[in-house]
Amino acid sequence: MNANDKKYINYQEHWNKVYSSNEINNLGWYEEMPKPSLDLIAKCGLAKNAVILDVGSGTTTLIDNLIQQGYKKIIASDISAIALEKLKARLAEENSEFVQLVVDDITDPQRIDFTLKADLWHDRTVLHFLTNENQQTGYLSTLKKIVKKGGYVIIAVFTLEGAKKCSGLNVKNYDQKMISEFLGKDFELLQYFNYLYINPSGGERPYVYTLFRRKHI
Ligand SMILES: C[S@@+](CC[C@H](N)C(=O)[O-])C[C@H]1O[C@@H](n2cnc3c(N)ncnc32)[C@H](O)[C@@H]1O
Repeated sequence: MNANDKKYINYQEHWNKVYSSNEINNLGWYEEMPKPSLDLIAKCGLAKNAVILDVGSGTTTLIDNLIQQGYKKIIASDISAIALEKLKARLAEENSEFVQLVVDDITDPQRIDFTLKADLWHDRTVLHFLTNENQQTGYLSTLKKIVKKGGYVIIAVFTLEGAKKCSGLNVKNYDQKMISEFLGKDFELLQYFNYLYINPSGGERPYVYTLFRRKHI
């Protein structure tokens, strides 16, 4: 039995509980300034009307930063409705027009609009929670349906030496080679780096950040 199996865990309930019982800035993945992601996004040289999909966005401050930088077509999607409600409450009213909030399971999406082709897929620490093959296949199928040719993919997850659990769930650890193999030959690895994230309790969480580009084939 895989401890993260959908048969045994209701993920929506799990994540709703996490977000309803914690202050945003105490979460074990909270970043005041998501610099590693912003640095990689800057490398993509996207137009301000590019479609940016942040999967498993939770309450990330990345959204506020993207709005501040002038991006106008941001989609923040998460399995937890509570997370997205908290994100909405934090965003200034006048900024809500730039962000579409979509409650969905990225491994089996029902609400994401696939007619919108994404220029950028951003995932900070969602893929590593998908520990069984069905979840991973579902994630990849969503990614391939929505990321346009020439579009970018940023994935950041725990390194091979990193934590084996997060938020009470098992994780699958990766290095850049494994992420590259997972995405397949249509995606070219442009850049990667390891980054030592320090969580709000002072714990060290090594992450690997990767930036890929989907080939024009
Ligand atoms: C560790 S948190 C990271 C949140 C955010 N990316 C950040 O960096 O602050 C993982 C997030 O993934 C979301 N999540 C987990 N499984 C998911 C799934 N199958 N589909 C969509 N979101 C999911 C959780 O609700 C949670 O918000």
